[in-house]
Amino acid sequence: MAVAHFLVVSFPLHGHINPTVEFARRLARAGTRVTILTSVSGHRRVIESPPVEGLSYATFSDGYDDGFNFQLNKNGSATGTVERPKDAPDFLALFSQAGARKVKELVRTFRDEGSHVTCIVYSMSLTWAADVARELEIPSVALWIQPATVLAVYYHYFHGYDHLINRVESDPGFLVELPKLPLLASKDLPSFLLPSDPHSDIREAFQKQFSTFDEEGKESKSKPRVLVNSFDELEREALGSVDQLDLIPIGPLISSTAKKTSSGSDYMEWLDSRPVSSVVYVSFGSIISPCKRQMEEILTGLLETRRPFLWVIRGSDTGEILNRVDESGEGLVVPWCSQVEVLAHPSTGCFVTHCGWNSTSESLAMGVPMVCFPQWTDQTTSAKLVEDGWKAGVRVRVNEDGVLEGGELKRCLEEVMGGEEIRKNAMKWRDLAREAVGEGGSSDCNLRAFVEKM
Ligand code: UDX
Repeated sequence: MAVAHFLVVSFPLHGHINPTVEFARRLARAGTRVTILTSVSGHRRVIESPPVEGLSYATFSDGYDDGFNFQLNKNGSATGTVERPKDAPDFLALFSQAGARKVKELVRTFRDEGSHVTCIVYSMSLTWAADVARELEIPSVALWIQPATVLAVYYHYFHGYDHLINRVESDPGFLVELPKLPLLASKDLPSFLLPSDPHSDIREAFQKQFSTFDEEGKESKSKPRVLVNSFDELEREALGSVDQLDLIPIGPLISSTAKKTSSGSDYMEWLDSRPVSSVVYVSFGSIISPCKRQMEEILTGLLETRRPFLWVIRGSDTGEILNRVDESGEGLVVPWCSQVEVLAHPSTGCFVTHCGWNSTSESLAMGVPMVCFPQWTDQTTSAKLVEDGWKAGVRVRVNEDGVLEGGELKRCLEEVMGGEEIRKNAMKWRDLAREAVGEGGSSDCNLRAFVEKM
C-alpha cells in the first residue's frame, strides 16, 4: 500500500514554524511521508534534530531570503512596538505567488517519482495553498496555530455577530456573548476585530480563511476539517462552539527538538545554579519588542521583586538596561534562548509572557504559571483564558498609557510566585497536556484518526 504523503505549508515565522514542525514530526512518526514547505528565511528558523524518518524540507525564495526587512510600526500603544515586514502586503503577495508556484512544481515532481501528495496542510490564513490544492484536486486542511477560542470568535464575527463585537469600544462595560464561549470584554477580544484596530489587511486575511471554509463546506457538503493546536480538556467548549466546522484538537504541539541548542549554554548553567522554582523567565516571543520606557518599568519590577530573572531581550538600544541588570547581579539577559528547555527547567518558577499561543501552550505543558502581558492579536484572548478559564496565571493591569508599571509587575509576580492555587492549577494542566499527546491520549488519537482518514 502506498504511504500517505502530506505537503505541509508554513508561514515563515517562529509562531507558525515551531508548531508546524512538531505536527509534521508526529505525522512522520505515525508512518507517513511529510514534506514541509516554507520560504528560505522560514527554513532558517527551523531547529530540526534529531531528524525523523520520512520528514524532509523544501524551500522557495519569496524575495526575503535574508529575513524580513523589519520596521518598527507604532501600533498606538506606548507599551511597545510590533515588528512587521516593511511592506507587508508586498511581502504577502510575493510569498503567496512564489509559494503557489513551488507547491505545483513539488506536486508534479512527487507524482513523477510515484509519490502522490495525499493532502496539503497549510498554516491558517495561507488560503492560497487551499486554492492551489483545489486546482490540483488534492484535499487540503488548515492548521490553526492559535487557541480554538480565538478561531470560534473569528468564526462568529464573520457569521453575523460582528455587531456585538463592534459595540465593545463605544460601550465600555459591554460584554460579548458568543455560543459556548466565556463572556468577552473589549480587552479580551482578538485585537484585529476591534473597530479601531489599524491592521485591516490582517483582518481581511482571516476573513478570506473563513470564506474558504464556507466554500469548502458547500462544495463537499460536509464540515471542513481544521486541525487545531489545542486539546480537548483545555478548550472543550470552544472546540464545540462552531457547528459548521470539524475542529480536530491535536495539541499541544510543543517542540521536541529544542534540547540540542540549549545543552551547554550559559543560561542553562545559570539556571542549574538557582534554587527550584525561583527564577522569573521574561520573554515576549519573536515579534514584539517593548519600548525603552516599558523595559525600564519591567526592570524596576523585577529588581524590586528580588528574585533571579532570565530575560530575553531582542533588538537594539538596550545598553543601559543591560548595564543595570549586570550591576544588580540578580538577572541574566540573553538575545534568544531555547524557550521550551528554559520552561522545563526545575529552577523556572514563573513566565512573564505576551501570551503568544506557543508561549502559552509551552508554559501550560511545562506546568509554569504565568504573568500575562498581552499585546495584540490572539494574545488578549489567551490572557483571559489563562487568568479566568484555566486559573494558571494573572493578567497585568496597564496604566492609561498602556504601560505596565514596575509596581504592578511586582504585585503580579508575588501573587503568582506565592500562589499555591495557581501553581497547583499549572501542574494540573501540565499533566493533562502530557496525557493528551501521550500514546492513546485524546490528541494522539485524533491525529492518528486523521491520518487514517487521509
Ligand atoms: C505569533 C503571534 O505574535 C502570536 O500571538 C500567535 O499566537 C503565534 O504567532 P510570537 O509572538 O512569536 O507568535 O509568539 P509565540 O506564539 O509565543 O511563539 C514564539 C515561539 O518562539 C515559541 O515557540 C517560543 O518557544 C520560541 N522562542 C521565543 C524561543 O524558542 N526562544 C526565545 O527566546 C523566544
